[in-house]
Order: sequence, then C-alpha cells, then structure tokens
Amino acid sequence: YSKDFVKLVEVGPRDGLQNEKTLVPAKVKIELIERLANNGLSVVETTSFVSPKWVPQMGDNKEVLTSIKKKPGVFYPVLTPNMKGLEGAIAAGAEEVALFTAVTESFNLKNTNCSTEESLARAKQVLQKALDQKLRVRGYLSCVLGCPYEGSVNPEKVAEMAKELYDAGCYEISLGDTIGVGTAGSMATMLEHVLKVVPADAIAVHCHDTYGQALANILKALEYGIRVVDSSVAGLGGCPYAPGAKGNVATEDVVYMLHGMGLKTGVDLEALVETGQWISEQINRPTSSRAGAALMVA
Ligand code: HMG
Ligand code: MG
Repeated sequence: YSKDFVKLVEVGPRDGLQNEKTLVPAKVKIELIERLANNGLSVVETTSFVSPKWVPQMGDNKEVLTSIKKKPGVFYPVLTPNMKGLEGAIAAGAEEVALFTAVTESFNLKNTNCSTEESLARAKQVLQKALDQKLRVRGYLSCVLGCPYEGSVNPEKVAEMAKELYDAGCYEISLGDTIGVGTAGSMATMLEHVLKVVPADAIAVHCHDTYGQALANILKALEYGIRVVDSSVAGLGGCPYAPGAKGNVATEDVVYMLHGMGLKTGVDLEALVETGQWISEQINRPTSSRAGAALMVA
C-alpha cells in the first residue's frame, strides 16, 4: 500500500452486532457482510467463535461464515479466543483469525475468564496452531488507552504486549481503545512507546467513540504513520441503555474524513451510507454515524 492509502477494517458485523441486545437474524448479517465487501471494504470481520453463553449474538457464527459469498481479494477474519474457537473457525472455512488479549488484569478476567499471563499464553498457543494451518492472524490488544476497571494504563505495558503479539507472529496488531476514553494526547503518548518496538505498518487503531474523540485520535494516529483503521458501519455497537457504552467509530465518518484529506480507501462512500441506513433500519435504531445521517437519502 502506498502512503496515501488507508486500509479500513470493517468490524460492524462482529464488534458492532455483538453488543446488540436484539438477536439479528443470520440472513441479515450475511447480507450486511456482502454489502460491505461490495462497498469496497477489503477486510470485513465476520463473526466470532466465542462461547454462545458469553455472547449469544455470535451463536450463528458457523452459518454466517459458511453462507457468505466471498469476494476475491477481500478478507473475512473471525475472532477466536481459544483452541475451541479456532477449531470451529477452521471447520467453517476461515482463512484469517483474530486473537484478543488486554493490557489489564481485570479486563482479561472479565472478558476471557483468565489472567493477563494466561490470556497471552492462550493467545500464543492459538496463534501457533493457526500459523501451522497457514492462516493469517491478527492480534487485538484491548484497553490501550484506559480500562473500565483499572482506569489509566501504562503505555510501556501496551508497548511490551504489542511487541509480544507481533514477535509471536501476528501480522497486524490492532490497538483497542475499548471504552473510547483516549484523547489525541494519550494516543500520541501510547504510540510513541509502541512504535519504538513494533513497525507502524503492523499497527492498526481501533477506536470506540464514547467520548466523541475517535476521529481526533485516528487523525493523530495517521500523523504517526498508521495506515490501518478499524471502524464499524453506522457506528454499530454499544448499548443505548448503558450510559458510557458506545460503538466503534463509524466507517462513514472515517471515510468522509480520509477522502477529505485526499487519502484513498477504496470505499464508495455513497453506497456505504446506504448500507448504514439499511442496517440501522434492520435493527430499528438511528445511525450513530454523523456523516451517514447527513448524507442519507430521504
Ligand atoms: P470459559 O468459561 O473460561 O471457558 O470461557 P471454558 O473453557 O471453561 O468453557 C466454558 C463453556 O464455554 C464450555 O461449555 C465450553 O464448551 C464453552 P459447557 O461445557 O459449559 O457447555 N466454550 C465455547 N463454546 C464455543 N466456542 C468457544 C468456546 N470456548 C468455550 N470458543 C472464553 C473462555 C474465552 C471462551 C469465554 O470467556 C468467551 O467466550 N469470551 C468471549 C468474550 C468476547 O467475545 N468478548 C468480546 C470480544 S473482545 C472485544 O470486543 C474487544 C475488541 O473489539 C477490541 C477492543 O475494542 O478493545 C476485539
Ligand atoms: Mg472493540
């Protein structure tokens, strides 16, 4: 990729929908994923192979992954927290998986029922098996700019863990501001540390928009040479009833900003806005994308 191209990783079908209380039918998820690929997104995170007791919304992972019409040149990663998840993903034909761990002990305990050390060991085990099977492996690191249980986090710890995932074989590390508390200031400080130990072209930023800082934080990451951004169509995610819990930055908003800066994304914004409008109608709530709402056709 040239420096003026930004790769967008669309996480709406997974990160967005996993937080929706109303169960979205597999048919709708499949159509969403296919539309997003047709809108020009080259990576569409499709589902997660996690415990359905923990995340019921992703219980149809096999049906979704095996039913989508895959578009050549598009990647369809799925989340796999453990060996069981990896085996399910492989059986359903996954070519790319994503692992996750968090910087803080409390978040790992709540999210994956184990300590940070155990979580990292588990991730490395899954990673090794996935690499043996010739899969592409992406790594997520959560709570890089703050933790819901522990507050601020140490940027040195973020760098240390990002390097662990990178050295273990993840082709890309997505740095998650899981609760959207970061600012351009904390993003800069964190990246200063991370980029000393992991090259910029192996880093993605994954911003949730709780405090309305996501675009500013992404802009800051671009200044540091980051060219991979995770986002979610219509800003899917979060729960309207839980104050504070917000979705990912909206893909429409990111595309609008990037195109305005003369950067290329390969995404057809107008078509994407339609997809955002369509999925918002399907789940019966207004879009969280500002650009999406402004560009919406009546
Ligand atoms: P556990 O309870 O410690 O696992 O969960 P276990 O091995 O003891 O198994 C318990 C039960 O779950 C067993 O079933 C297993 O078979 C089943 P039972 O015997 O009780 O009937 N099970 C599974 N079923 C299906 N698929 C699997 C699987 N594994 C176990 N893969 C586990 C450990 C990690 C599985 C659990 O904690 C879990 O599923 N957590 C999911 C957490 C999750 O999905 N979080 C959201 C994604 S992360 C995220 O959103 C952050 C990110 O966006 C970045 C950011 O924003 O920062 C990526
Ligand atoms: Mg997330």
